[in-house]
Amino acid sequence: MNLYGIVVAAGRGERFGSPKADLVVQGLALWQWAAAALEGSGSAGVIVVGAVPGGVPGGARRRDSVAAGLAALPADATHVLIHDAARPLATAALAEAVVARLAVGDVDGVVPALPVGDTIKRVEGERVIETVLRTGLVAVQTPQGFRLEVLRAAHAADTDDATDDAQLVERHGGSVVYVPGETTNLKITYPEDLAVAEALAP
Ligand code: CTP
Ligand code: MG
Repeated sequence: MNLYGIVVAAGRGERFGSPKADLVVQGLALWQWAAAALEGSGSAGVIVVGAVPGGVPGGARRRDSVAAGLAALPADATHVLIHDAARPLATAALAEAVVARLAVGDVDGVVPALPVGDTIKRVEGERVIETVLRTGLVAVQTPQGFRLEVLRAAHAADTDDATDDAQLVERHGGSVVYVPGETTNLKITYPEDLAVAEALAP
C-alpha cells in the first residue's frame, strides 16, 4: 500500500459566513490539523486543496476539489485518504483505523461513522411526515480511505454532485464499509462550531 492524503480546504463556507481555509483552532489552521492527522497515519505525502500556502486550487464543488487533489497525486500512489479541513479534531488514530481496515484488502472504501444520536424525522415545509427508523442509520465523517484506482474510476463515471467520496464509489458499484468514528470529530459548518472545536482541541 502506497498511501497518500488529500485535505480539501476550498469552498465558500456559505453556512459559516466566510471561507474556512484560514480559520484557526489553538493557533493552527484547520487544514494544518487535518494534514497532521493524515501524516500521523503513515501517509507518504499530503496534498492540500485550497487557497493555502502550497495548496493546489480547489473547484466549484467538493467533488471538484477532491478531483484536483487526485490529479496532483504522485504516480506511485495506490491508496488515498480524503479528509475535510473542516474536521480539525479527527485524530491520527482514527486515520490509522481507516487505513488498517483498508489494508485488509477486501473493500474499495472505508469511512468512519457513528450511530445517529438524534431522532430523525422527514418533513415537508413545517409539517412532520414521519419519524425515520434510526436502526441501521449512521452519520459519516472523514478521513475516508479508498483504493485509488476505484476512487478515480468513480470520479470519472459521473458528474453528479456528492457530499462525500464514498457516495461516488457506492454509486459506481464499489464496496464501502465503516469503522467507528469519533464523537469529538465534529465538522466546522456554522460559526458556533469553532468555539466547540477550540474547547475540545487537545
Ligand atoms: N470543500 C472544498 N471545495 C469545495 C467545497 C468544499 O474543498 N468547493 C471542502 C471544505 O473546505 C470542507 C469540506 O470540503 O473542508 C466540507 O465542505 P463544507 O464544510 O460544506 O464547506 P463549504 O462547502 O465551504 O461550506 P458551505 O457548504 O456551508 O458553503
Ligand atoms: Mg459545502
